[in-house]
Amino acid sequence: MNTQRSAQCIPVTELDAVIQPISQAVGMPNAAYTDPALFEFERDHVMANTWAAIAFTSELPLDSFAIPVDFMGLPLAVVRNRQGEYHVFHNVCSHRGMPLVKEAAKIEGSIRCRYHSWTYDLNGRLKGTPHIGGIGVHKVEGFNCAQHNLREVRSAVWLNMVFVNLSGNAEEFEQFIAPLVERWSGYVGDAGLAQLQLAETDSSMELEIEANWKLAVENYCEAYHLPWVHPALNSYSPLDQHFNIVLSEQMSGQGTYNYSLSEVAGTSLPQFTQWPADKARQGEYISLYPNVLLGVQVDHAFAIILQPLAENRTLEKLELYYVGEEAGSREYSACRWAVLESWRVVFSEDVFAVEGMQAGRESPGFTGGVFSPVLDGPTHHFHSWVAQQYKTHSGAK
Ligand code: FES
Ligand SMILES: [Fe+2]
Repeated sequence: MNTQRSAQCIPVTELDAVIQPISQAVGMPNAAYTDPALFEFERDHVMANTWAAIAFTSELPLDSFAIPVDFMGLPLAVVRNRQGEYHVFHNVCSHRGMPLVKEAAKIEGSIRCRYHSWTYDLNGRLKGTPHIGGIGVHKVEGFNCAQHNLREVRSAVWLNMVFVNLSGNAEEFEQFIAPLVERWSGYVGDAGLAQLQLAETDSSMELEIEANWKLAVENYCEAYHLPWVHPALNSYSPLDQHFNIVLSEQMSGQGTYNYSLSEVAGTSLPQFTQWPADKARQGEYISLYPNVLLGVQVDHAFAIILQPLAENRTLEKLELYYVGEEAGSREYSACRWAVLESWRVVFSEDVFAVEGMQAGRESPGFTGGVFSPVLDGPTHHFHSWVAQQYKTHSGAK
């Protein structure tokens, strides 16, 4: 028996069992959902080596604004500078390691450390070191501020999300996102996702779930559970009208040929101007590994950032976008409310399922489970990707 172990305590043989063709494959073992050490491993390897989303740009509503982000225990800060550009830094002062940005706030002047008052500009450059050379002496020979700037993390902004690549080694973000942009251009045309806007009301919601972040992705990848978990959704977007999508190494999900909320709820929101008429009822739901869930329909789209809080806790932050500025007006508020409410119902219905799967992973009678070869393809695709990341980044063969 191969006793080589990979990623703390998952034997390579168990990872290999996940990567098998779907009809023979099992899922990731329980430890990947219950072991705090593996939660940290996933941050430093699975998340760090690719593009993970950490915030919506709407969380920074003004220029000269900063927010702290606890990224699986790692203190980061997103800063929107005076020009409106976003930077992500390790949220820690270069002097004695104090966390710098404590709360979401407009930055007047510079970012000031609360400990000894060192200051940084909004591009992370160390600017002030009061009394560093003794009382009243703010500079000291041999100390070069430029060597002690904030440590920047590689980042990119897409749709209205801030992504980070902690290792700095991932492919270019444009390359990473290209398969999705290309696929969805078939729906949204050249005018593209740029038509999407947040509205002042009915545009966001949050759910905290007692489950590992991966279970939220897995559940999102399949429509199999629709008739039993989402009876209302199944009435205007039935299971037999769904199709599976495997789009790239890091994208999978499902789509529907028949999403008809507008007829059921009587909504009439502005639509994407170039959406093909013969696909008017089509919609797609794609998991962008590791931690973003996306959806698009003819008159709205949404993004969910999964913020892993612990091995068994995840914050789901959803933003819902409408097409064009007018869709955000008061005239459409009842329509927006109906759309947001329909998704609130759906995502709330999923909570018991995802939390149930988490509880089930305490059972020694469950060892990763199996897949429907027809309906669980996108879910297995995610499992395979995760297993491969465990193998690759632990150095196992
Ligand atoms: S730790 Fe920040 S100024 Fe000392
Ligand atoms: Fe669901």
